[in-house]
Amino acid sequence: MCGIIGYTGHRPAVPLLLEGLHRLEYRGYDSAGVAFVQQDKISIVKSAGKLSALEAKLADHPTLLATSGIGHTRWATHGLPVEKNAHPHLSEDGSIAIIHNGIIENFLEIKEELLAAGHTFLSDTDTEVLAHLIGHEIQNSTSILEAFSHALKKASGAYAVVMIAKEDPNTLYAARMSAPLLMGVGTGENFVASDIPAFLPYTREVIFLDDAEIAVVKTDSWKIYSLEGLAPVQKSISHIPWDMQAAAKDGYKHFMLKEIMEQPRVITDCLSGRVINDSHEMRVQLHELDGLPIPRRLHIVACGTSYNAGLWGRQLLENVGGIPTDLDIASEFRYRSPILLPDDAVMVISQSGETADTLAALRLAKEKGCPVIGLCNVVGSSIARESDVVLYTQAGPEISVASTKAMCSQMTLITLMALYFAQRRGRKNDPLLHALCLLPNQLSEILPSLKKTAERLAIAFSGARNFFYLGRGQCHALALEGALKLKELSYIHAEGYAFGEMKHGPIALIDHDFPTFALALNNELFSKVRSNIQEVLARQGRIIALVQAEDGVLPDLNVEEMWVLPPSHPATAGFLALPALQLFSYAMADYLGKDVDQPRNLAKSVTVE
Ligand code: AGP
Repeated sequence: MCGIIGYTGHRPAVPLLLEGLHRLEYRGYDSAGVAFVQQDKISIVKSAGKLSALEAKLADHPTLLATSGIGHTRWATHGLPVEKNAHPHLSEDGSIAIIHNGIIENFLEIKEELLAAGHTFLSDTDTEVLAHLIGHEIQNSTSILEAFSHALKKASGAYAVVMIAKEDPNTLYAARMSAPLLMGVGTGENFVASDIPAFLPYTREVIFLDDAEIAVVKTDSWKIYSLEGLAPVQKSISHIPWDMQAAAKDGYKHFMLKEIMEQPRVITDCLSGRVINDSHEMRVQLHELDGLPIPRRLHIVACGTSYNAGLWGRQLLENVGGIPTDLDIASEFRYRSPILLPDDAVMVISQSGETADTLAALRLAKEKGCPVIGLCNVVGSSIARESDVVLYTQAGPEISVASTKAMCSQMTLITLMALYFAQRRGRKNDPLLHALCLLPNQLSEILPSLKKTAERLAIAFSGARNFFYLGRGQCHALALEGALKLKELSYIHAEGYAFGEMKHGPIALIDHDFPTFALALNNELFSKVRSNIQEVLARQGRIIALVQAEDGVLPDLNVEEMWVLPPSHPATAGFLALPALQLFSYAMADYLGKDVDQPRNLAKSVTVE
């Protein structure tokens, strides 16, 4: 997610903006920029890469006279991470500059209208379109505030936006819709930012903007208005007790916990602009795939958690999308001379977009003349740039080494792909699409209780030195992921296995000291899983069973711990089970005093073979 800071007050603005952006660096970014009003004009300095590159550029610019301005670190969602796409962006006439976090879903339609009106654009971003729209509205409005609100009402999607105007140099105009934005209230100075750390050393007095609110912030006053009708809004000021380190994690103890709890928003952002719900129908749109023939066979290739997401999604791509699909670990695929036929396609999944084995698999597929679809989170990453078609998961930067929200976003995108291919075959699956859209609220409701249960169970099972994670069908993929999380975070040996395979050898390991996490979600395989659970119980195996009530009735499994999830569509149950598995591993690692965000021996992106 982008970092945003605005300042207006009595100090030189630019050094403060840079300081604030440095405090937001943990969020991950690929370019940065500042804008400030000086000698009756707006100056903009921006650069690709890290803040040091921006600071080097600023060394040649006199900026100390400017006492208001805006600064931005960009996490690319539209347009490569290059200087022209960095924020801030100017209106056509240079009278206003904006910075933005979020996604303007209808920016293409707006851009076409403005192009027809003679506008010219310098970047590929949705943000520049918004800047031009505001500038256009100013021509037809009685005030900057009125123009700002008119433009925002025309834009749809998520935004946290801050603007400066040449005509009103010491005022910040800010607005939020589904993306965090807050004010820091100082003495003779005020701040606007996406995150508390940006201004915490200067003030702990904070006003949290809510959706569809506009703030007009001057050096010694501020006013909040509703977007609709510009009615004044009363807001209270909150005092922030956090220290800097805690604030970077929004008050969570670790980035991993923050990223697990972000998953409802991650699903919302991943669906943003891809589910069209107009008056008479719901449908999926994935324009990126429109030019690609429906593959005869899809080969999914990935590593680690991304591989587990692909395994989870294979069943949907086949059963819903009608696409024959197979799966390979990238480090195996790249050396086994795979046979790829002319109408096949390869799909590589990678959060970082830099995993060496996955990148090598992509290059091998292309050498064999096979089109490659990339599912990535990092815009402009190597895999994103070398894929023939790239679909971004839009999960925001994932800081913790253990991948959590990335898998949730990958599962969301694969489900959309299955529905998309079904649509192209003339088939619909409204119940699944509807269930997908319900997930953010469902997940928000259960995350706090999942966290509490995970903490209790982690303590109860903290003596275990081994763990089985067992499941069938899509739960087999979740079992692999749960085991991966436990072993990489708590260093407890954990093995994910297909439940039906246990009787072919591994069940010999079961005894009282080798507990099992059984994934027994409601689907057509439940009765088989119930039998497998009995086989484990017959050997004195301790079991935590992750289950769902059916019509309000819990399964009678006679296990030590029954962890109950709410009922759901069979194909979306995995989204409810995944955070339970993540939180159990998180709680175990935290209880055992491990380095949760930086586990030993691991890197966030494995860029070596
Ligand atoms: C998962 O928690 C690990 N961090 C690791 O397995 C990771 O998923 C794997 O290295 C793949 O990374 P990628 O998605 O960036 O390609």
